[in-house]
Amino acid sequence: MEKKYFIVTYGCQMNVHESEKLAGILRRRGYTAAACAEEADVVVFNTCCIRENAENHAYGNIGALKKLKRSRPGLLIAVGGCMTQQEGAAERLHKKLPFVDIVFGTHNLYKFGELLDKKAGQKKALLSVEEQGREPEEDIAFRTSYPNAWVNIMYGCNNFCTYCIVPYVRGRERSRDPEAVLAEVRGLLDEGYKEITLLGQNVNSYGTDRDVGMNFPQLLRRICEDGRKFRLRFMTSNPKDFGEELVRAVAECPQLCRLVHLPAQSGSDRILRLMNRKYTAEEYLKKVEMLRKYVPGCALTSDLMVGFPTETEEDFRRTLELVEAASFSAAFTFVYSRRSGTKAAAMDGQVPEEVCKERIMRLVEAVNAQTRRLSEGYAGKTVEILCEDRDEKRGLWMGRDEFGRMGYFADEADPVGQFVNVRVKDTSGISLFGERV
Ligand code: SAH
Ligand code: SF4
Ligand code: F3S
Repeated sequence: MEKKYFIVTYGCQMNVHESEKLAGILRRRGYTAAACAEEADVVVFNTCCIRENAENHAYGNIGALKKLKRSRPGLLIAVGGCMTQQEGAAERLHKKLPFVDIVFGTHNLYKFGELLDKKAGQKKALLSVEEQGREPEEDIAFRTSYPNAWVNIMYGCNNFCTYCIVPYVRGRERSRDPEAVLAEVRGLLDEGYKEITLLGQNVNSYGTDRDVGMNFPQLLRRICEDGRKFRLRFMTSNPKDFGEELVRAVAECPQLCRLVHLPAQSGSDRILRLMNRKYTAEEYLKKVEMLRKYVPGCALTSDLMVGFPTETEEDFRRTLELVEAASFSAAFTFVYSRRSGTKAAAMDGQVPEEVCKERIMRLVEAVNAQTRRLSEGYAGKTVEILCEDRDEKRGLWMGRDEFGRMGYFADEADPVGQFVNVRVKDTSGISLFGERV
């Protein structure tokens, strides 16, 4: 009988892509995808720990499998990713949820197949988290995001923003060989992928951990030498290293989308300093100005946080002012979450929950107002949508324009993977509704 897997993913694109690699490892061992946990022989949770609620979600959903596991003891449950990579996390998880069979971390994901074998030979739970390791083979990924493909250009992070757990659970920066990245992208375009998203925690420091012969803007230009029509995106850019050379590449390479995700976090210089972000609000806005000068019409998105330790109403107002000045087409907004082991967790002046709640509501309102305003300007225009999928609920096809806006339209044929011109008739939030022209 065929064995089946089901993978549950939390967190960022990095994790989404790593789940594709886990799927690849399982498929090489003869497993195929199940539609739900109930139909699977192995369920893998690929977790995140960026904020407390990400961990709570995972704990809740793993805990919910207890009954299923009791009725079907042969079911294998594995938990890996950033949450389990934290110090002492594997033991904590095992204590709370002893029915979990395998716990692994970010550094030994490549060994997942071996861990399955090892577990088969022992009855007790297998806790295997390592401090170092290597990356899984890139070509093992079983991709499920056509027409987009995720491509890692680097792993890890060296920045140690004081609130952030990522450097602790992902290790130091490791850049991939440019030739390997170029070959992977070429292969994906040969297969028909129409959008490539390059991944790294701070893509601007590509090639600074060791000499790989080129920097990030040069890598982008090399990728764009391929004359085919496709879209090239990247994330994430840390503002401290965001410079003119990159902006010029965005301006000059037609495949590079005119959309930059540039997480500002805060508009208060005092808070930015405490966060160890290494830029001021003014420097941030100067970079935005440069971007808009070189790349007219470029969309800008961001990550913003409220409630960092000691944040005052005055500091928070600076963030609102930054939102106003930067004119984001969209932004992810977060309430600061205390992550044990980080510098900020030990800081005095943790901000009370009610204050955070009130600030996040005001921030979301400010960002949404901007998003709406910019969307309204789309009415009557024609945009090029790369069709990604069908929205069954709406009965419409969906996809994004170059600037990251989701567009919906009707079509008789299946246009997934095609570039489609859509005239916008209506807008709502960051979404556009129109008809194919
Ligand atoms: N490497 C990326 C960010 C990865 S994490 C960068 O530097 O831009 C994505 C976002 O999560 C961050 O930009 C930040 O806004 C948010 N984040 C990170 N740690 C957090 C924490 N402890 N509490 C709340 N939000 C956090
Ligand atoms: Fe976290 Fe900062 Fe690294 Fe981004 S750059 S992953 S926010 S430490
Ligand atoms: Fe990503 Fe969450 Fe890990 S945001 S890097 S999956 S902590």
